[in-house]
Amino acid sequence: MALHRLASITIGVPNVEETSRYYAEFGLARDGATFSTTDGGKQLCIVKSPTRRLIELCVGADDFDDLDRVAERLTALGVPVERDAASLRAIEVHSAARAVVKILLRVPQLSTAIAPSNGTGRADRENDRAPGILREGPIRPRKLGHVVIGTPEPEASRRFFVDGIGFKVSDEVRGVAAFLRCSSDHHNLLLQSSPVAFLHHTSWQVDDVDEVGRGAMRMLEGHPERHTWGLGRHFIGSNFFWYLRDPAGNFSEYYSDMDTITDDQLWKPGTWEPSLQALYAWGPNVPPSMLTPDDLADLMAASHQN
Ligand SMILES: [Fe+2]
Repeated sequence: MALHRLASITIGVPNVEETSRYYAEFGLARDGATFSTTDGGKQLCIVKSPTRRLIELCVGADDFDDLDRVAERLTALGVPVERDAASLRAIEVHSAARAVVKILLRVPQLSTAIAPSNGTGRADRENDRAPGILREGPIRPRKLGHVVIGTPEPEASRRFFVDGIGFKVSDEVRGVAAFLRCSSDHHNLLLQSSPVAFLHHTSWQVDDVDEVGRGAMRMLEGHPERHTWGLGRHFIGSNFFWYLRDPAGNFSEYYSDMDTITDDQLWKPGTWEPSLQALYAWGPNVPPSMLTPDDLADLMAASHQN
């Protein structure tokens, strides 16, 4: 695959400092407006914007030929492309997000020495307590996994990202959502049908389900209002999840154990009818704010002013 990773995103929020403090607490290493994960490096930038939204996403490509192909495809779609030696830029007008494709080195992730767990009739951890209950250090997300945006023109946005940039479709929910990948992760970008463009959530990989739970519980200490949805397991993508709400109204997700697609021939993309079953395999009832943002009226009013 020519595209190989979701390198970074820039998000816009009205309350930059408050939101920045939240993401530092979430476990990202802050350097001014830039935030890093342990494996992915600088992956988040937070800037000022009248409403919360995705401003830019940057995708890593292997070489110049890959950039040429992306530029050709976007041009064929009638999309203006800005090109320099090692990158290109194009605006997806319906979500108002800028896509950047840049030649970047691949970043192989070192595997974590996950301690063995006991299965039924199989004790791989004998005479010892589970390490997950003994961890005490801070949660440090390993990498940015995916970003989810609402778009009022999902078909056109999908053409831009799939036919233009080169994302692949992993799964979809008919008329509602398209799960797209630019790496071996099941999804790096999810497009949701929405009356207005907005940032739904960003998602950050942690080592295992214990880290998902531990991370969320720490964020909730003294801040019960941050709780949104979790602990659960998604159906599409299979990942464990716990969603929290940042001070701008975006959700941030800790996840682990997502499906990985390394051979396109062996993965069969599915199309599901819209249903809660497509959303999650198990977990608490889905809160209404996951499906319709609490600030939808404000977002729509702001979009009419622009
Ligand atoms: Fe997610």
